[in-house]
Amino acid sequence: MINLPQRPRRNRKNQVVRELVCENSVNVNDLILPMFLTEGKNKKSEISSMPNIYRFSGDLILNEIEACLKIGLHTFCLFPSLSDKYKDKKATESYNSKGLYPTVIKNIKKYFPEALIMTDVAMDPYSSDGHDGLVKNGQILNDETLTILAKMALVQAEAGADIIGPSDMMDGRVGFIREALDEADFTNVSIMSYSAKYASAFYGPFRDALDSAPKFGDKKTYQMDPANSREALLEADLDFNEGADFLMVKPALSYLDIIKLLNDNFNLPIAAYNVSGEYAMVKAAAAKNWIDGNKVRDEILLSIKRAGASVILTYFAKEFALSKK
Ligand code: PBG
Repeated sequence: MINLPQRPRRNRKNQVVRELVCENSVNVNDLILPMFLTEGKNKKSEISSMPNIYRFSGDLILNEIEACLKIGLHTFCLFPSLSDKYKDKKATESYNSKGLYPTVIKNIKKYFPEALIMTDVAMDPYSSDGHDGLVKNGQILNDETLTILAKMALVQAEAGADIIGPSDMMDGRVGFIREALDEADFTNVSIMSYSAKYASAFYGPFRDALDSAPKFGDKKTYQMDPANSREALLEADLDFNEGADFLMVKPALSYLDIIKLLNDNFNLPIAAYNVSGEYAMVKAAAAKNWIDGNKVRDEILLSIKRAGASVILTYFAKEFALSKK
């Protein structure tokens, strides 16, 4: 035998030892399931680029939430998919307290008060321009957008949202929304800020799901440049100081270094959004039998956890929870 005092393989010699020394694991409690809402009744339509992910009407989403609660999945992030007649330049429908989104949130909270509901704050599902902010002469206006975002957040909080998720990347929005919530006595409503949200090609299937792609240009004047990491610290620092309760990195997989960076530098829970394109790639390759989809799913979620995210938003949440049953 050669003299090897350190033999790391000893800690891998069988399953029990491997589990003993295992450093990270993914728990269903760590996961948030993003869900898509649609108008009408008794409607459930699959998103073609996201197998097994559906747009649900308000009645059917109740059944889906009930099924998820039964398998231990408790947190849901809702996105509304609206037809063009509800879209305008000012995203007026986004703060209609009788609109689809607040109505469904109220109903979910009525039947399932134990379900934790996260909402999305951004103009794009309601904007005829398909942008997250107000557009004037081809520019995205920052400060004028904040007023609309705050109105949207208030309507969501009134409907019963537990966590507000500003995904728009306007400057100053976390502080602006926090102040509006506090003034209306919603001091208990949390903010999960999309702090480091990159201008990413991985959002393609999501934009199909909501039909929310920008009508002109791209989102590079507000979403971050994938080349930058120090800028993520700047964004996170602002959100931290403006009162965010969670800092999110989005997408997750190509940005594991950013997850680690924020986790190393901030004492707030770090969330990561395993986005639609990341889901679609796994599903497409698995359908061709080019990869084992379930194993790749588990490895991806574990890598996001290992990088430092304690919360993961993922379209895999339900199937992961089912696989643990
Ligand atoms: C927009 C928003 C996007 C996503 C969540 N909120 C897309 C975008 O910025 O264009 C993407 C989520 C995903 O791809 O799963 N406010």
